[in-house]
Amino acid sequence: MRIEFVASDAGKSPSDGAAAVMVFENGHLSTAAEAMDKATSGALARALAAAPRFTGKPGQTVEIVAPAGLDVQRLLAVGAGPADGWGGDTAERFAAQAYGAVKLSGAKVLQVFTPGARAEDSARAAFGAALAAYRFDKYLTTEKPEKKPSIEVVQVITDDVAAAEAAFAPLKALAEAVYFSRDLVSEPPNVLFPAEYARRIKDLESLGLEVEVLGEAEMAKLGMGSLLGVGQGSIRDSQLVVIQWKNGGDSQPIAFVGKGVTFDTGGISIKPADGMEDMKWDMGGSAAVAGLMHVLAGRKAKVNAIGILGLVENMPDGNAQRPGDVVTSMSGQTIEIINTDAEGRLVLADALWYCQDRFKPRFMVDLATLTGAIIISLGNDYAGLFSNDDTLSENLLAASKASGETLWRMPLPDAYNKQIESMIADVKNTGGRPGGSITAALFLQKFVNGVPWAHLDIAGTAWKKPSTVPTIPDGAVGFGVRLLNQMVADKYEV
Ligand code: BES
Ligand code: MN
Ligand code: ZN
Repeated sequence: MRIEFVASDAGKSPSDGAAAVMVFENGHLSTAAEAMDKATSGALARALAAAPRFTGKPGQTVEIVAPAGLDVQRLLAVGAGPADGWGGDTAERFAAQAYGAVKLSGAKVLQVFTPGARAEDSARAAFGAALAAYRFDKYLTTEKPEKKPSIEVVQVITDDVAAAEAAFAPLKALAEAVYFSRDLVSEPPNVLFPAEYARRIKDLESLGLEVEVLGEAEMAKLGMGSLLGVGQGSIRDSQLVVIQWKNGGDSQPIAFVGKGVTFDTGGISIKPADGMEDMKWDMGGSAAVAGLMHVLAGRKAKVNAIGILGLVENMPDGNAQRPGDVVTSMSGQTIEIINTDAEGRLVLADALWYCQDRFKPRFMVDLATLTGAIIISLGNDYAGLFSNDDTLSENLLAASKASGETLWRMPLPDAYNKQIESMIADVKNTGGRPGGSITAALFLQKFVNGVPWAHLDIAGTAWKKPSTVPTIPDGAVGFGVRLLNQMVADKYEV
């Protein structure tokens, strides 16, 4: 699917297309809707009157097929919410909703009308359509043609094409990064194992990123016994990927660290069969970091940023780590393994320590599908935010509001450290069921060496099935890419 911006007065409607116009709450017609109503001699108003449950709320649509007086095959009225304060996320949702409504109709062109809107909002509409059009179909070989989206181009109709195109440039880079992140998360685990994952990140050097890949021998030399213990039961070698984007002069870098468990069986503490296939997306945190680095490079952000991906496969086999094992992390702290399924924190322990040790960053943010407990706490719309730093937390929460990728701050009470005390090592890797996401975060905190740090537990938000959000098709969300890009853009560019 392509995106084009077309001037409001360009005239000609495509005869193989659909036109989407907004109707605000209480049936208030947008400028474009009014024009369409005139052109169809009142057909739009009649259609709305015949659909009494259409009130202009987001999510509602009314469609007129083959409207007399217009060239297009379909005229789509889309509920756009209150006219007051329209823009930004409602612009995105309008176009995403329109795309969803006609994508299987057979129409090849979708015209999304935004006359009178600010150029930024026309751009946001284009961005919404782009996010809605994501699809992971590379392994579908016998899909029925009528299940394939027919829309080839979305034309956003706007007053000022040049201004809308300029406003869209950074959003286009963001959409491409979200696609990249969603692709990684969607790939099956037999295809995307650590070395293949690292290869795909290496390809990002074409964007101007620097990418280094550390193998098991190099990690062993660094003393990463915690990360390596997790991958020890897999025939696939573990990898640590270091991505650098240097465009911030001599400013101190900011750093992002992601959990990249390409498949989590639980190891010897094996998971039940039911739903285990979901654990292919246990690398969602690392995919968010990869997506962030992609967009920073794509839009040439003025910042020095580090992305670190800890890539392992957690498998049970004759050489796998056991409950009861004690490993030594790069920090020197020893860890008693109680449950081999609490593997993400073991990967992050060494990745975080390495990050602060090598780069002395201004702060570190880690992202991880870390605990099932965060889904019990917050459900699927909020990721858990844990942090030792109020400024960083506030910046993340502000970006969460602006980007729509929502966070909720959770506590890090020192007293709960009691739950992860071990009899024979410095710490143990599980703290029991009470406050399971909190003790996981407290474990991570032991490996940040006092650096300002935030941990985002995205176990509930990395994947949506079913999705109720038009900009997120069922499946991989790419959660974190928009959020972190927003924070960097708003607070950390020089
Ligand atoms: N990857 C899982 C967490 C997870 C669960 C993510 C469900 C998404 C959906 C993680 O590695 C894990 O297994 N955590 C355990 C920790 C426990 C053993 C202390 C959990 O949450 O049950
Ligand atoms: Mn696990
Ligand atoms: Zn896991």
